[in-house]
Amino acid sequence: MEVVIVKDSATGGALIADAMADLLRRKPDALLGVATGSTPLPVYEALGATVRAGEVDASHARICQLDEYVGLPAGHPESYRSVVLRQVVEPLGLTENSFMGPDGTAQDVAAACAAYDQALADAGGVDLQLLGIGTDGHIGFNEPCSSLASRTRIKTLTQQTRRDNARFFNGLDEVPHHVITQGIGTILEARHLVLLATGEAKADAVALAVEGPLSALVPASALQLHPHATVVVDDAAASRLKLADYFRATYAAKPDWQGL
Ligand code: F6R
Repeated sequence: MEVVIVKDSATGGALIADAMADLLRRKPDALLGVATGSTPLPVYEALGATVRAGEVDASHARICQLDEYVGLPAGHPESYRSVVLRQVVEPLGLTENSFMGPDGTAQDVAAACAAYDQALADAGGVDLQLLGIGTDGHIGFNEPCSSLASRTRIKTLTQQTRRDNARFFNGLDEVPHHVITQGIGTILEARHLVLLATGEAKADAVALAVEGPLSALVPASALQLHPHATVVVDDAAASRLKLADYFRATYAAKPDWQGL
Protein backbone atom coordinates (compact mmCIF):
# COMPACT_ATOMS: atom_id res chain seq x y z
CA MET A 1 0.00 0.00 0.00
CA GLU A 2 1.26 3.45 -0.87
CA VAL A 3 0.30 6.37 1.36
CA VAL A 4 0.61 9.84 -0.15
CA ILE A 5 0.22 12.79 2.22
CA VAL A 6 -0.80 16.04 0.57
CA LYS A 7 -1.39 19.48 2.03
CA ASP A 8 -5.08 19.77 1.19
CA SER A 9 -8.03 18.23 -0.62
CA ALA A 10 -7.48 20.22 -3.82
CA THR A 11 -3.93 18.85 -4.12
CA GLY A 12 -5.19 15.32 -3.48
CA GLY A 13 -7.96 15.77 -6.03
CA ALA A 14 -5.53 17.02 -8.68
CA LEU A 15 -3.13 14.14 -8.03
CA ILE A 16 -5.85 11.51 -8.46
CA ALA A 17 -7.34 13.28 -11.49
CA ASP A 18 -3.85 13.16 -13.07
CA ALA A 19 -3.71 9.41 -12.45
CA MET A 20 -7.13 9.00 -14.06
CA ALA A 21 -6.08 11.11 -17.04
CA ASP A 22 -2.88 9.05 -17.46
CA LEU A 23 -4.97 5.89 -17.37
CA LEU A 24 -7.31 7.26 -20.07
CA ARG A 25 -4.31 8.11 -22.26
CA ARG A 26 -3.10 4.50 -21.96
CA LYS A 27 -6.58 2.98 -22.15
CA PRO A 28 -9.18 5.37 -23.59
CA ASP A 29 -12.15 3.14 -22.67
CA ALA A 30 -10.98 2.53 -19.10
CA LEU A 31 -13.72 1.69 -16.59
CA LEU A 32 -13.49 4.23 -13.77
CA GLY A 33 -15.24 3.33 -10.53
CA VAL A 34 -16.41 6.41 -8.70
CA ALA A 35 -17.52 7.15 -5.15
CA THR A 36 -20.02 9.73 -3.97
CA GLY A 37 -20.07 11.99 -0.91
CA SER A 38 -18.07 15.15 -0.32
CA THR A 39 -14.51 13.84 -0.44
CA PRO A 40 -14.19 13.00 -4.16
CA LEU A 41 -15.55 16.32 -5.45
CA PRO A 42 -12.07 17.87 -5.95
CA VAL A 43 -11.14 14.83 -8.06
CA TYR A 44 -14.13 15.33 -10.36
CA GLU A 45 -13.53 19.08 -10.59
CA ALA A 46 -9.85 18.55 -11.53
CA LEU A 47 -10.61 15.79 -14.04
CA GLY A 48 -13.38 17.86 -15.65
CA ALA A 49 -10.99 20.81 -15.99
CA THR A 50 -8.33 18.58 -17.56
CA VAL A 51 -10.85 17.27 -20.08
CA ARG A 52 -12.20 20.74 -20.90
CA ALA A 53 -8.62 21.99 -21.41
CA GLY A 54 -8.19 19.28 -24.05
CA GLU A 55 -5.38 17.59 -22.13
CA VAL A 56 -7.09 14.22 -22.25
CA ASP A 57 -9.87 12.69 -24.32
CA ALA A 58 -12.46 11.16 -21.99
CA SER A 59 -15.04 10.50 -24.70
CA HIS A 60 -14.54 6.72 -24.54
CA ALA A 61 -14.31 6.51 -20.74
CA ARG A 62 -16.77 4.31 -18.89
CA ILE A 63 -18.01 5.14 -15.40
CA CYS A 64 -19.44 2.79 -12.78
CA GLN A 65 -21.04 3.29 -9.42
CA LEU A 66 -19.82 1.89 -6.12
CA ASP A 67 -23.04 1.87 -4.17
CA GLU A 68 -26.66 3.00 -4.16
CA TYR A 69 -29.46 3.71 -1.73
CA VAL A 70 -32.31 1.21 -1.74
CA GLY A 71 -35.84 2.53 -1.96
CA LEU A 72 -35.35 6.10 -3.16
CA PRO A 73 -37.67 6.79 -6.09
CA ALA A 74 -36.05 6.71 -9.54
CA GLY A 75 -34.60 10.12 -10.33
CA HIS A 76 -34.38 11.21 -6.66
CA PRO A 77 -31.66 13.91 -6.65
CA GLU A 78 -29.74 12.14 -3.85
CA SER A 79 -29.85 8.68 -5.40
CA TYR A 80 -26.26 7.90 -6.22
CA ARG A 81 -27.23 7.32 -9.84
CA SER A 82 -28.41 10.97 -10.02
CA VAL A 83 -25.36 12.19 -8.10
CA VAL A 84 -22.85 10.39 -10.33
CA LEU A 85 -24.64 11.52 -13.50
CA ARG A 86 -24.61 15.12 -12.23
CA GLN A 87 -21.10 15.22 -10.74
CA VAL A 88 -19.11 12.93 -13.04
CA VAL A 89 -20.83 11.69 -16.19
CA GLU A 90 -22.28 14.97 -17.48
CA PRO A 91 -19.25 17.19 -16.65
CA LEU A 92 -17.04 14.76 -18.58
CA GLY A 93 -19.31 15.15 -21.61
CA LEU A 94 -20.52 11.54 -21.35
CA THR A 95 -24.03 10.12 -21.40
CA GLU A 96 -25.88 7.38 -19.52
CA ASN A 97 -24.66 4.97 -22.22
CA SER A 98 -21.17 5.18 -20.69
CA PHE A 99 -22.46 4.58 -17.19
CA MET A 100 -23.43 1.57 -15.11
CA GLY A 101 -24.71 1.13 -11.59
CA PRO A 102 -26.80 -1.17 -9.40
CA ASP A 103 -30.58 -0.76 -9.54
CA GLY A 104 -31.66 0.61 -6.17
CA THR A 105 -35.31 0.54 -7.25
CA ALA A 106 -35.39 -3.18 -8.11
CA GLN A 107 -38.14 -5.34 -6.55
CA ASP A 108 -35.71 -8.25 -6.48
CA VAL A 109 -32.72 -6.66 -4.77
CA ALA A 110 -30.68 -9.88 -4.62
CA ALA A 111 -31.06 -10.35 -8.38
CA ALA A 112 -30.08 -6.70 -8.98
CA CYS A 113 -26.92 -7.20 -6.88
CA ALA A 114 -25.92 -10.38 -8.72
CA ALA A 115 -26.64 -8.67 -12.05
CA TYR A 116 -24.36 -5.78 -11.15
CA ASP A 117 -21.44 -8.04 -10.21
CA GLN A 118 -21.95 -9.85 -13.52
CA ALA A 119 -22.13 -6.56 -15.45
CA LEU A 120 -18.83 -5.43 -13.93
CA ALA A 121 -17.18 -8.70 -14.92
CA ASP A 122 -18.69 -8.55 -18.43
CA ALA A 123 -17.32 -5.02 -18.79
CA GLY A 124 -13.82 -6.40 -18.19
CA GLY A 125 -13.51 -5.28 -14.58
CA VAL A 126 -12.87 -1.91 -13.01
CA ASP A 127 -9.54 -0.31 -13.98
CA LEU A 128 -9.37 2.30 -11.23
CA GLN A 129 -11.75 2.42 -8.27
CA LEU A 130 -11.90 5.67 -6.33
CA LEU A 131 -12.95 5.20 -2.70
CA GLY A 132 -13.81 7.42 0.23
CA ILE A 133 -13.78 6.19 3.81
CA GLY A 134 -16.51 6.45 6.41
CA THR A 135 -15.78 7.72 9.91
CA ASP A 136 -16.52 4.11 10.97
CA GLY A 137 -13.98 2.73 8.47
CA HIS A 138 -16.42 1.67 5.75
CA ILE A 139 -15.56 1.55 2.06
CA GLY A 140 -18.43 1.62 -0.35
CA PHE A 141 -21.15 0.95 2.16
CA ASN A 142 -19.45 -2.10 3.63
CA GLU A 143 -20.05 -1.27 7.24
CA PRO A 144 -17.96 -2.73 10.10
CA CYS A 145 -17.99 -6.55 10.21
CA SER A 146 -18.74 -6.86 6.50
CA SER A 147 -17.16 -10.00 5.12
CA LEU A 148 -13.82 -9.28 3.50
CA ALA A 149 -14.92 -11.69 0.73
CA SER A 150 -18.34 -10.10 0.21
CA ARG A 151 -19.93 -9.55 -3.19
CA THR A 152 -22.39 -6.84 -4.16
CA ARG A 153 -25.35 -7.11 -1.81
CA ILE A 154 -27.78 -5.21 0.38
CA LYS A 155 -26.42 -3.73 3.61
CA THR A 156 -27.92 -1.81 6.52
CA LEU A 157 -26.28 1.53 7.29
CA THR A 158 -25.01 2.21 10.79
CA GLN A 159 -26.61 5.09 12.65
CA GLN A 160 -23.22 6.84 12.48
CA THR A 161 -23.24 6.68 8.66
CA ARG A 162 -26.88 7.76 8.48
CA ARG A 163 -26.05 10.75 10.70
CA ASP A 164 -22.97 11.55 8.57
CA ASN A 165 -25.12 11.52 5.42
CA ALA A 166 -28.12 13.39 6.85
CA ARG A 167 -26.62 16.62 5.47
CA PHE A 168 -27.67 15.52 1.96
CA PHE A 169 -31.31 15.03 3.03
CA ASN A 170 -33.94 16.99 4.94
CA GLY A 171 -32.90 15.40 8.22
CA LEU A 172 -31.97 11.99 9.53
CA ASP A 173 -35.42 10.43 9.05
CA GLU A 174 -35.12 10.76 5.28
CA VAL A 175 -31.79 8.89 5.07
CA PRO A 176 -32.49 5.36 3.82
CA HIS A 177 -31.52 2.49 6.09
CA HIS A 178 -30.55 0.19 3.25
CA VAL A 179 -28.07 0.33 0.41
CA ILE A 180 -26.67 -1.83 -2.34
CA THR A 181 -22.90 -1.80 -2.22
CA GLN A 182 -20.15 -3.48 -4.15
CA GLY A 183 -18.79 -6.06 -1.73
CA ILE A 184 -15.27 -5.90 -0.40
CA GLY A 185 -14.40 -8.91 -2.56
CA THR A 186 -15.86 -7.07 -5.56
CA ILE A 187 -13.93 -3.88 -4.78
CA LEU A 188 -10.68 -5.83 -4.40
CA GLU A 189 -11.03 -7.03 -8.01
CA ALA A 190 -10.44 -3.53 -9.38
CA ARG A 191 -6.95 -3.20 -10.87
CA HIS A 192 -6.06 -0.08 -8.90
CA LEU A 193 -7.71 1.14 -5.69
CA VAL A 194 -7.33 4.81 -4.81
CA LEU A 195 -8.73 5.94 -1.47
CA LEU A 196 -8.97 9.66 -0.74
CA ALA A 197 -9.53 10.87 2.83
CA THR A 198 -9.51 14.47 3.95
CA GLY A 199 -10.18 16.22 7.23
CA GLU A 200 -9.51 15.44 10.87
CA ALA A 201 -12.76 13.48 11.24
CA LYS A 202 -11.22 10.73 9.09
CA ALA A 203 -7.89 10.54 10.96
CA ASP A 204 -8.82 7.62 13.26
CA ALA A 205 -10.39 5.57 10.48
CA VAL A 206 -7.35 6.17 8.23
CA ALA A 207 -4.88 5.15 10.95
CA LEU A 208 -6.82 1.94 11.68
CA ALA A 209 -7.17 1.10 7.98
CA VAL A 210 -3.53 1.72 7.08
CA GLU A 211 -1.63 0.76 10.22
CA GLY A 212 -4.08 -1.41 12.15
CA PRO A 213 -4.61 -5.13 11.74
CA LEU A 214 -6.54 -6.50 8.78
CA SER A 215 -10.02 -6.77 10.22
CA ALA A 216 -13.63 -6.91 9.10
CA LEU A 217 -14.24 -4.43 11.93
CA VAL A 218 -12.41 -1.84 9.79
CA PRO A 219 -13.51 -2.65 6.24
CA ALA A 220 -11.00 -0.22 4.68
CA SER A 221 -8.17 -2.33 6.13
CA ALA A 222 -8.98 -4.72 3.24
CA LEU A 223 -6.85 -2.42 1.07
CA GLN A 224 -3.87 -4.07 2.76
CA LEU A 225 -4.71 -7.17 0.68
CA HIS A 226 -4.59 -5.36 -2.67
CA PRO A 227 -1.43 -5.39 -4.81
CA HIS A 228 -1.99 -1.82 -6.05
CA ALA A 229 -3.67 0.34 -3.42
CA THR A 230 -2.99 4.04 -3.03
CA VAL A 231 -4.21 6.04 -0.04
CA VAL A 232 -4.15 9.81 -0.56
CA VAL A 233 -4.67 11.80 2.64
CA ASP A 234 -4.37 15.44 3.58
CA ASP A 235 -2.34 16.50 6.62
CA ALA A 236 -5.42 16.45 8.86
CA ALA A 237 -6.52 12.94 7.86
CA ALA A 238 -2.88 11.78 8.22
CA SER A 239 -2.53 13.27 11.69
CA ARG A 240 -2.77 9.91 13.55
CA LEU A 241 -0.47 7.90 11.27
CA LYS A 242 2.57 6.68 13.20
CA LEU A 243 4.54 6.28 9.98
CA ALA A 244 3.64 9.68 8.51
CA ASP A 245 7.30 10.78 8.26
CA TYR A 246 8.21 7.58 6.45
CA PHE A 247 5.28 7.97 4.02
CA ARG A 248 6.28 11.57 3.29
CA ALA A 249 9.93 10.67 2.70
CA THR A 250 9.00 7.72 0.48
CA TYR A 251 6.75 9.80 -1.73
CA ALA A 252 9.29 12.64 -1.93
CA ALA A 253 11.88 10.18 -3.22
CA LYS A 254 9.54 8.50 -5.72
CA PRO A 255 10.53 8.76 -9.39
CA ASP A 256 8.00 10.90 -11.35
CA TRP A 257 7.60 8.28 -14.06
CA GLN A 258 6.02 5.85 -11.62
CA GLY A 259 2.86 7.91 -11.19
CA LEU A 260 0.42 6.68 -8.59
C1 F6R B 1 -20.12 6.70 -1.19
C2 F6R B 1 -19.24 5.80 -0.47
C3 F6R B 1 -18.87 6.05 0.95
C4 F6R B 1 -18.23 7.44 1.15
C5 F6R B 1 -17.91 7.67 2.62
C6 F6R B 1 -17.27 9.01 2.86
O1 F6R B 1 -20.27 6.27 -2.53
O2 F6R B 1 -18.83 4.83 -1.02
O3 F6R B 1 -17.97 5.06 1.37
O4 F6R B 1 -17.08 7.50 0.38
O5 F6R B 1 -19.07 7.54 3.36
O6 F6R B 1 -18.18 10.02 2.54
P1 F6R B 1 -17.71 11.55 2.54
O7 F6R B 1 -16.74 11.68 1.42
O8 F6R B 1 -18.97 12.32 2.25
O9 F6R B 1 -17.13 11.80 3.86
